[in-house]
Amino acid sequence: MNIYVFEQLEDLYQAAAKRIIDKIKMNPYTTLGLATGSSPLGIYKKLIEGYINKEISFQNVKTLNLDEYVGLRPTHPQSYANFMKKELFSNIDILEENTFIPSGAASNLESEIRYYDALLKKHKIDIQLLGIGRNGHIGFNEPGTPFTSTTHIIELDPRTRNDNARFFKTPEEVPSKAITMGIYSIMQASEIILIATGSQKAYAVKEMIAGKIDSKLPASILQTHNNVHVYLDHLSSKEL
Ligand code: F6R
Repeated sequence: MNIYVFEQLEDLYQAAAKRIIDKIKMNPYTTLGLATGSSPLGIYKKLIEGYINKEISFQNVKTLNLDEYVGLRPTHPQSYANFMKKELFSNIDILEENTFIPSGAASNLESEIRYYDALLKKHKIDIQLLGIGRNGHIGFNEPGTPFTSTTHIIELDPRTRNDNARFFKTPEEVPSKAITMGIYSIMQASEIILIATGSQKAYAVKEMIAGKIDSKLPASILQTHNNVHVYLDHLSSKEL
């Protein structure tokens, strides 16, 4: 694992975004695996700047998102489809047909799972962007998810629902299930960028980097991937 610690968040986002921007410059047909939540927001801002400054174009880029809440339509304000539109897609020149997010509102979730796995087979991810949960989840692969998992439906950990309640009017509104890319699929990416900031992530970061490789801490599997880049601030790295 390559670990980078930054004093300033701005520098962290700049450095992580540069890795993606350089990749797109080298290969305009790059396929990105994308995440939602707070962690990637600073990077999305830098990618938008890169597009506005005409440094990069997303015309030929494809994106596959990690996950979506079950039961939320893409138009729901807290759906990850809406998040991606607002925070990235509507601000760059990416083609809508090149952006893929698993649908949590599909009437047949089993066929949605098969469809998403087929997409992942077809489009190999060049760079996968990840955040990490306080419990060490990646995507919505909660503790105990097998490392061999592909796309599946997961019951969200109460801690995850609690952490994400900040985006909803009431904690009860946070969906209890999600559809997520599996750990096996995440590990197929050629390169992985993981962002963690804030002291609430320090335990998960320590276990991910130096702990036992165990499905109890899903991100620990990243120790076995040969091209992982972890971007930390001083708070998330304080237990290392
Ligand atoms: C989001 C995702 C999650 C988040 C994680 C951290 O698509 O897959 O694994 O990356 O829950 O969330 P934040 O960044 O909000 O702390």
